[in-house]
Amino acid sequence: MSNKRFAIVTGGARGIGRSIVYALEAQGCKVCAIDVNDAMLEELSDIAAAEGKDITTEKLDITDSDAMTQCFNRLADENDGISVLINNAGITRDGMSMTMSDDDFDLVIRVNLKAAFAAIRAAARSMMRNRYGRIVNIASTSGVIGNAGQANYAASKAGLIGMSKSIARELAKRNITVNCIAPGFIQSDMTDVLPEKVKEYFKGMIPMAKGGTPDDVANAVAFLAKEESGYITGQVLCVDGGLTMC
Ligand SMILES: NC(=O)c1ccc[n+]([C@@H]2O[C@H](COP(=O)([O-])OP(=O)(O)OC[C@H]3O[C@@H](n4cnc5c(N)ncnc54)[C@H](O)[C@@H]3O)[C@@H](O)[C@H]2O)c1
Repeated sequence: MSNKRFAIVTGGARGIGRSIVYALEAQGCKVCAIDVNDAMLEELSDIAAAEGKDITTEKLDITDSDAMTQCFNRLADENDGISVLINNAGITRDGMSMTMSDDDFDLVIRVNLKAAFAAIRAAARSMMRNRYGRIVNIASTSGVIGNAGQANYAASKAGLIGMSKSIARELAKRNITVNCIAPGFIQSDMTDVLPEKVKEYFKGMIPMAKGGTPDDVANAVAFLAKEESGYITGQVLCVDGGLTMC
């Protein structure tokens, strides 16, 4: 394994994912941002080139398991293995359960949960070879305490937590950690589209009375991705201004 750790961040083109890309690069990783959003990937590449950051980009739809596996194998070959994987890409298709379509349920599970599974399977081969890995999955407080109107999303994120704990147990002896970050209400493009009334409602429930920033999430991810965090596995760390404390 080369000295510089190679990290993959799915959904790394914008929002929380982009903050994670920057945080891992600042920590000394070479980082590849994977995303479907061409325009945002291009913007990220331009910024990285202008600022001399060690960041590359790949356009990939993570629901295409075969394409993702091929891409990860190539990236692993080119970079002496994959040291860090951050499953951050995620979508919402909110609606009350009584009126939610099968398509909206399936799509959210496919992007948020099944694609994360396929990404871990693809990256874990290289990590097992190198007997080293840090995997961080971006869940949500919706997956911890539930959220009305998000049965599909909460199921995907709760599934991510159960899956992470299971794979953490499978990979623990290989020096590979698997943890979850569960953000609460974070200001991003995903939440910008929510009605003002909904945003105010959430803020009213948060002890800190404000939303978090993508950097708040990225700092927690960077902590779990650190070399020195190797004795932490199977955990869920909520970054939520106290929303879920009990
Ligand atoms: N914003 C919040 O309040 C909040 C709260 C809890 C959890 N999260 C989670 O944090 C993560 C990032 O959220 P965000 O707010 O930055 O959202 P965002 O919509 O700004 O970013 C998500 C990124 O994922 C990419 N993506 C979506 N589907 C993809 C696919 N099939 N293949 C490849 N890339 C794909 C998008 O293009 C986008 O760049 C998500 O997993 C989300 O569920 C966000």
